[in-house]
Amino acid sequence: MRVGVAKEIKSDEYRVALTPAGALELIKRGHEIVVESGAGVGSAFADTLYERVGARIGTVEEVWESSELLLKVKEPVRAEYGRLREGLTLFTYLHIAADEPLTQALIGSGVTAVAYETVETGRGALPLLAPMSEVAGRLSTQAGAYFLEKPFGGRGLLLGGVPGVAPGRVVIIGGGIVGYNAAIIALGLGAQVTILERSIDRMRHLEEILSGRVTLLMSSTLQIASSVEDADLVIGAVLIPGALAPKLVTREMIGGMNAGAVVVDVAIDQGGCVETSHPTTHSDPVFVVDGVIHYCVANMPGGVPITSTKALTNATLPYVEAIASLGLRSAVAGDPALAKGVNVLAGKVTYEAVAEAHGLDYTPLAEALGL
Ligand SMILES: NC(=O)c1ccc[n+]([C@@H]2O[C@H](COP(=O)([O-])OP(=O)(O)OC[C@H]3O[C@@H](n4cnc5c(N)ncnc54)[C@H](O)[C@@H]3O)[C@@H](O)[C@H]2O)c1
Repeated sequence: MRVGVAKEIKSDEYRVALTPAGALELIKRGHEIVVESGAGVGSAFADTLYERVGARIGTVEEVWESSELLLKVKEPVRAEYGRLREGLTLFTYLHIAADEPLTQALIGSGVTAVAYETVETGRGALPLLAPMSEVAGRLSTQAGAYFLEKPFGGRGLLLGGVPGVAPGRVVIIGGGIVGYNAAIIALGLGAQVTILERSIDRMRHLEEILSGRVTLLMSSTLQIASSVEDADLVIGAVLIPGALAPKLVTREMIGGMNAGAVVVDVAIDQGGCVETSHPTTHSDPVFVVDGVIHYCVANMPGGVPITSTKALTNATLPYVEAIASLGLRSAVAGDPALAKGVNVLAGKVTYEAVAEAHGLDYTPLAEALGL
């Protein structure tokens, strides 16, 4: 199959949808790879690195017009709508339940749109969202530790302490992928870590894998209030699938924290789980409310594109290989997880939540494919 890799044109997006290593794997399986010139530069992959493994470098027109399967990271922006066409399978993050103009553009163009974020295993895991949660979780502790330093407005506290001086207290609300990854970095730094969860099964699992090195507490309003009051760093990492994040940390709780303490609200992309949060950017990441530093960057993985690109393509490559080698129809017929990723096909909405969000007709994928 002819597989294209587009350069991201959305502002502040430096990731690319395929690494040279991934390109080589596809080339070895007999596929042809065309990479848009400069697509990998933001992730430290120069055009020559792709050429060296046998990929071709092309213009934006060549990549969009000649590909059968087009790989991207972010959803097409308006300037790209005109490039969508019948006969093209687009594989990227889409998030179209919240984007009616793009939904209409996908339907009107006849493109087949497969969304990373809705690829879902039988056990409800989201394998193409997980790597970005791993990155954001690890980065959250790093960002928190940085802003706790006095010159950056923080309390002036070293999370790990030193012999004879107590470590800092990190409170993580939500012990899923983000929360677990935040915890292992905090433990690595030597901090004292508490995770508040509301799933007992998840807490049992965390107890097993973290071998008792963290305090695990049932999440409740009262428990959050008392844990947050003493914390040096609070990390908001909850998720209620398909819903806005609940405001678990209230303004009053923030008011009771130490001046210079830090809150990293990772759940900000779902509205945030801290009442005083609002989205920020990498160029202006923090603001202060009641003396507490708030870090609320909505696209945290974008700050470390080299790591994020590699983590993302590690996860997407098996699906890319399946689509390229089998064709979309056979690939989705053989893999229900990938089938869940198909949002729009031949002008029909094949993902129920997207149809519901925009009041459009829903066509089951099997019907749209005539399976
Ligand atoms: N800002 C960013 O750049 C960025 C990047 C990746 C993920 N995220 C966001 O981070 C959040 C967490 O993602 P994840 O992949 O870890 O999700 P996840 O589903 O793996 O984990 C969420 C956890 O929150 C727990 N939870 C739900 N309600 C709770 C409550 N009231 N109290 C305590 N725990 C509760 C769940 O039981 C679950 O274990 C999501 O909102 C996600 O969108 C943000």
